[in-house]
Amino acid sequence: MKESLVEFQKNAEAELNSAGSREELLAIRTKYLGRKGLLTTLLRKIGSVSPQQRPLVGKLSNEIKDVLSVKIENALEEIAYREKCETLLHEKIDVTLPGRGVSHGRIHPIVQMSREICEVFSGLGFSVVKGPEVELSHYNFEALNIPEGHPARDTQDTFYVEDNIVLRTHTSPVQIRIMEKQRPPVRIVSPGKVYRPDSDISHTPMFHQIEGLLVDKDITFGDLKGVLTYLLQQIFGEGTALRFRPSFFPFTEPSAEIDIQCIICGGAGCRVCGRSGWIEILGAGMVDPEVFKAVDYDPEEISGFAFGLGVERIAMLKYGISDIRLFYENDRRFLEQF
Ligand code: PHE
Repeated sequence: MKESLVEFQKNAEAELNSAGSREELLAIRTKYLGRKGLLTTLLRKIGSVSPQQRPLVGKLSNEIKDVLSVKIENALEEIAYREKCETLLHEKIDVTLPGRGVSHGRIHPIVQMSREICEVFSGLGFSVVKGPEVELSHYNFEALNIPEGHPARDTQDTFYVEDNIVLRTHTSPVQIRIMEKQRPPVRIVSPGKVYRPDSDISHTPMFHQIEGLLVDKDITFGDLKGVLTYLLQQIFGEGTALRFRPSFFPFTEPSAEIDIQCIICGGAGCRVCGRSGWIEILGAGMVDPEVFKAVDYDPEEISGFAFGLGVERIAMLKYGISDIRLFYENDRRFLEQF
């Protein structure tokens, strides 16, 4: 029995020494040490061994089993190590390749446009101020000479928060807030969100305006025209065609609306400009004496002009965008172009 075990070990080791692959090693393990392997078969004959010899034979067979197991394990590890060395040798990592890009956010086109316009005014000595979006009806309407029941309230449908609190329908209330706090001269622009219940290709319920106000001695309509023409030429280029149209606002007198020639169709008439060839982008006028009185300014002493412009309209014209809703759909393919 002992001789058989020694013989068994010798055979197994001979096979191990000539084995070159993982598959061969695994096959040898099954053949010699497996549940139905040669060692099991051998040990079945332990009954023919004398009782004194049996423990010794058992011990020997365990030792042989352990030695073979360790040898097989080592050989398997050796193979795995060699394979790893092989791959490392052939697989090269090009550390000079650029990394996977991290996409980063950018400033929304409307905010960019707002900033660009405010910068033109900063250059003219205007300061940039802010006002609240949730506004007292007093500032949004009454102080601007739009009393309750005034037809101008109908032309500006309004989101009401409470009886006397609204989402501001324009940035003009900032005019009042500033003049209440400050004596003339006043030279401000005020960008921000405004709200009206409108929704179509050229209207969204929330949009952006920039309010402007200049009050000083001897300000004339010529100053208004000069400043706004300068602004639009800065934004759209020197040759930009403009149209000053007489209009009406309760808080300015005289009032004008300023149109820019439709850049989408070049003035021929299209869906965006309502087939007229012109797009209204600005409301403006000389501050009404009633407004000055409401903030305790003396209309005999000073005069001023005010304007409100639509930022989306200007951005649409500047970038040739024909649907205002694109600004608010958050499609990255659109936003990433700016
Ligand atoms: N607030 C007006 C509007 O939203 C625009 C405007 C501002 C007109 C200032 C005149 C002076 O339509």
